[in-house]
Amino acid sequence: MNIKIPLFDENQDLILQNSEKEKDAHTELLPRLLIVDDEWISINVLANLFKYDYDIFFAKNGYDALEIAQRSQPDLILLDIVMPEITGYEVCKQLKLDPCTSGIPIIFISAVEGNGESEVYGLELGAIDYIHKPFNLDVVKKRVGNHIKIKRSYDVEKESWKSCTEQFIIDKEKAEIQLENSTKQNDLLYLQVKHMQKLDSIGQMTAGIAHDFNNILSCMLGYNELNLLISEDIDTDIVSESKIEFEQNVKKIDEAGQRAVALIRKMMSYCRQHDVNENIEVKPTTEVIDEVLIMLQPALTKKIKLQVAFECNEIIQIDSMDLHQILTNLAVNARDAMKEYGGTITISLKIAKDVKAFCISCAEAIEGEFIELSVADSGTGIPPEIISQIFAPFFTTKVNGEGTGLGLFAVSEIVHRSKGHVLIDSKLDELNHGTIFRLLFR
Ligand SMILES: Nc1ncnc2c1ncn2[C@@H]1O[C@H](COP(=O)(O)OP(=O)(O)OP(=O)(O)O)[C@@H](O)[C@H]1O
Ligand SMILES: [Mg+2]
Repeated sequence: MNIKIPLFDENQDLILQNSEKEKDAHTELLPRLLIVDDEWISINVLANLFKYDYDIFFAKNGYDALEIAQRSQPDLILLDIVMPEITGYEVCKQLKLDPCTSGIPIIFISAVEGNGESEVYGLELGAIDYIHKPFNLDVVKKRVGNHIKIKRSYDVEKESWKSCTEQFIIDKEKAEIQLENSTKQNDLLYLQVKHMQKLDSIGQMTAGIAHDFNNILSCMLGYNELNLLISEDIDTDIVSESKIEFEQNVKKIDEAGQRAVALIRKMMSYCRQHDVNENIEVKPTTEVIDEVLIMLQPALTKKIKLQVAFECNEIIQIDSMDLHQILTNLAVNARDAMKEYGGTITISLKIAKDVKAFCISCAEAIEGEFIELSVADSGTGIPPEIISQIFAPFFTTKVNGEGTGLGLFAVSEIVHRSKGHVLIDSKLDELNHGTIFRLLFR
């Protein structure tokens, strides 16, 4: 077939396409073809053949070819073999070595004669085809067209794989985050369930003990009341002094017993998950502290001094029985921490200004002014490594049978129920620094 091809000289349009020529939207969509040949005539023949269907680039030597291939990323390269400086084989090798150009299909076009060695060698270097000069233009056009189609469909597939892979990575990352979050949530849920189960068993156990104690106390108080009645019947003249002392003792037993009954009732109602709408009885805080002091005195050894420091007269809005329970627990702990060397327990009431801290039990940030009720001792101090555990139910460092580990748990529950928080200052380093439990209420 004889096609008439106009020749281009070096200043024609075609030359500009490699760099300066502004490309329109149509050209942008065309497949890009790089023609590499040291002969102008060959470039022009091929350029005219493809000029309507391709965006054409050309190079007259191997070095230019490498640079243009990198910059323009053609869809196909028609590469001459015999060229000055570097051969088409060398250009092919280098294109295949560079990850930016290794995917560009190369067709060798050459006039090299032989019995197929150069063709085989070219294909071994990675070329997809080999066309002999002189060539049939129709055949060249068809071959280039077919290879371009293959390349384009490969690109589309590659692109869709790429986006699939990217989407897969995004989905995988999302799934991993979700899994991590749900594991964290599950862990938290697990701990919460464990905590609830623990509280539940404490509740059941306490309710059982409280119920039995209630029966025993009713019996003791009943007999105590009988003693009082009997005493009143006894002739006053005969045993006057002893009788008065006896009656006073009976009344003290009754008072303590009534307090125990109230406490037991509290425990029972607390164990019923606080569903009992109790009326709380708020008494002046200093008064309750004085009552606790009297109650505690017999439980202390001679080496342990108990004192109060009232810097204010504020009343904490807390049920007086609850306050009794808190102070007793803290004071008994303070006593136990001073067992060996003795020391002083100080119960203080004051206004704490500009507090800025985190509750040691619930970790909530607390700020501002509070009524501070504190129990300080000069005992052993609390090791920092156990401080985060001391409010947990059943946590105790006391020898078997001496502590249940429920004291501070109850303190924290009651304080928080009354909208309060707990801070602890504890020093281990110097003797007599001991521990201060600071309860903060609004
Ligand atoms: N003032 C204190 N000084 C040093 N350690 C303390 C003090 N108060 C509490 N602790 C530590 O905290 C732990 C828990 O106290 P908590 O009152 O909850 O239980 P317990 O005193 O061991 O037993 P109980 O149930 O009889 O009160 C104690 O075993 C002790 O190790
Ligand atoms: Mg205790």
